[in-house]
Order: sequence, then C-alpha cells, then structure tokens
Amino acid sequence: MADGLRIRLATAADAAVVGALHAESWRSAYRGLLPDAALDGDLVAERQQTWADRLGAGGTRRLTWLLLEDDAPEAFLSLVLEEDPVHGHLIDNLHVRPHLKSRGHGRLLLAEAAHAAARHDPAQPLHLLVLDGNWPAARFYERLGARHVETLEDDHLSGTRVRSHRYRWTNAGALLAGLGVTR
Ligand SMILES: CC(C)(COP(=O)(O)OP(=O)(O)OC[C@H]1O[C@@H](n2cnc3c(N)ncnc32)[C@H](O)[C@@H]1OP(=O)(O)O)[C@@H](O)C(=O)NCCC(=O)NCCS
Repeated sequence: MADGLRIRLATAADAAVVGALHAESWRSAYRGLLPDAALDGDLVAERQQTWADRLGAGGTRRLTWLLLEDDAPEAFLSLVLEEDPVHGHLIDNLHVRPHLKSRGHGRLLLAEAAHAAARHDPAQPLHLLVLDGNWPAARFYERLGARHVETLEDDHLSGTRVRSHRYRWTNAGALLAGLGVTR
C-alpha cells in the first residue's frame, strides 16, 4: 500500500464521517439515477443516521472499513457476511471520494473485503447491487471478474424502488483472482 494510506475497521464513532462521504459520493455519482429530491434534501443527515444505526448495531456480520490517507478518510466499504442464502456475502457499499477515484482505493478495499470473506467462509459467493445507469461501476466490477446475475427493483433509499443489477463472484477467491491478489 502506498505511503500514508491505511485501512482500518470503522466503529460507531465513524458514523458522521462515513455518512458524509456516502452523501458526497451519491450526489456526484447518482445524479439522474436517484430522485433529485433525495439528493438535494438533507442527505448528509439521512446517511449519517443510517450509518449510526448500522455501525452502532453491534454484531459480527457487518464489517465496514475506512481507507485513510494521512488520516483523512477517502473511501469506505461495508461487507455483510452471509447476507443471502443464494448470493452469499454482500458488498453493501463501496464509495471513493469523487475527486480521488481511479487511484486504486476501490481495489484495495475490495481486497480487504475478499480476505475477510475468505476467512469467514471461502465457499460462499460475494455479490453486490449496482444502480441501473451506473455503468462505470458495473464495468469496474466486470473487469474484476463479477458476472451479472439478475436485474431487480431494490429498495435502495427507503421508500424509493430503484432498478438495480446484481453482480456476483463465485467466491472470495474469484474476486482475489480478479484483483490479481495472491494469498
Ligand atoms: C466504482 C468505484 C468504487 C471504484 O473505485 P476506484 O477507487 O475509483 O477504482 P480503482 O482506482 O481501484 O480502479 C479503477 C481503475 O483505476 C485504475 N487504477 C488503479 N490504481 C491506479 C493508480 N494508482 N493510478 C491510476 N489508475 C489506477 C485501475 O487499474 C482501474 O482500472 P480498470 O477498472 O480499468 O481495471 C469508485 O469509482 C466510486 O466510488 N464511484 C462512485 C460511487 C459508486 O458508483 N460506487 C459503487 C456503488 S455499486
């Protein structure tokens, strides 16, 4: 990992940071994909409350990592272990600050998640949902070996059904192979 970069697990104390990063990324990447009213409303507070709930819930099934550069948060990923009996572990969110994309942060966080999934249960698939129209993200995952398995209507933002695409890796090893990571 480059000098100054580090990845650590997020705790409930990081809810405000993760929520702000999430809102910033949605406003940049999801314009035209989610309703303007949702993006232009009090999205920061809404996302911060969501992450306060998620990170404060305890339990061991959700693991959330923050990537920091010189202690400044630049990206996060959340993984829900054994989220689905068919599709396996869920990569629930992966967001990089808009001006810091394409520097390898997404790949580093995916490698962290793949290692954790492999430690927990290496046989289960890994999956995630991509909003319809978020083609840069879909291509990013496809280049890493994910396969499109279905299109569905997902309750992405409470009360708003949004068309989404499920992508899946056969198992954590397949994602690590796509990342070119050898264990
Ligand atoms: C999609 C997303 C998570 C990818 O993360 P990222 O950090 O931008 O992706 P990476 O930098 O790891 O990889 C992207 C490309 O940059 C390249 N790259 C990696 N490190 C690099 C570096 N140091 N310098 C230049 N390019 C680099 C990679 O080779 C990769 O190219 P490829 O996809 O053609 O193989 C990020 O762009 C993002 O947050 N998008 C907006 C929110 C979003 O859509 N999230 C996904 C929700 S499903």
